[in-house]
Amino acid sequence: MFITFEGIEGTGKTTQIAKVRDYFEAQGREVFLTLEPGGSRVGRDLRKMLLHVDNKDLTPITELFLYLADRAQHVAQVIRPELEAGKVVLCDRFADSTVVYQGYGRGLETKVLHQLNEVAVDGLWPDLTVVLDIDPEIGLKRATLRNLEEGKAKEEGRFEAEHLTFHKRIREGYLTWAALHRDRIRVVNASASQDEVFDRIRDAIESALTEKK
Ligand SMILES: Nc1ncnc2c1ncn2[C@@H]1O[C@H](COP(=O)(O)OP(=O)(O)O)[C@@H](O)[C@H]1O
Ligand SMILES: [Mg+2]
Repeated sequence: MFITFEGIEGTGKTTQIAKVRDYFEAQGREVFLTLEPGGSRVGRDLRKMLLHVDNKDLTPITELFLYLADRAQHVAQVIRPELEAGKVVLCDRFADSTVVYQGYGRGLETKVLHQLNEVAVDGLWPDLTVVLDIDPEIGLKRATLRNLEEGKAKEEGRFEAEHLTFHKRIREGYLTWAALHRDRIRVVNASASQDEVFDRIRDAIESALTEKK
């Protein structure tokens, strides 16, 4: 079972993934947690390049190919082997981030991005993708606070520093893309307590599992 988590910064992806891990482990399943960018050894260097505030000069195409390179390596070296070993793989961001950020966000053609993703994932699409949805003002407040607390404002602050209108476009992009892929993508309202959001995610997982049977 391969589940990916999407949504703008501060929606609670990292928070909820930990809860989903506990949920599967309580059922005796082995869980492997991973993330993009940076889920493989080489990917960790790519992540530093992609997220550092000093790299605002990356062209949209350069950014795109760095993300795709990260993904291709991640799928081949990490995700596929972990799934073959029988684990539940939970991934913090995946292919949909590319379509939404580079497409709806930066104006590249979503159809082309989807085709490039097909090459990068090499047939390995998630069984379920959870899009956490929230008003960007709330999400950014959460993310900014978190970055300050963790002292990461510089290294990982590139997206948080983008203008609010960009994040609004991203949120709309996720909703549009999710509506085009209803068989795989579930939108979950993330503006509630952590436990309430988790209950909604668990419902999405359980209904996706039932449909697969
Ligand atoms: N439902 C929630 N309500 C309020 N704060 C939350 C909620 N979920 C997460 N947070 C807090 O918001 C911040 C961002 O959450 P995080 O899981 O890091 O989001 P993401 O990984 O999507 O950027 C963290 O400090 C986290 O503790
Ligand atoms: Mg996170």
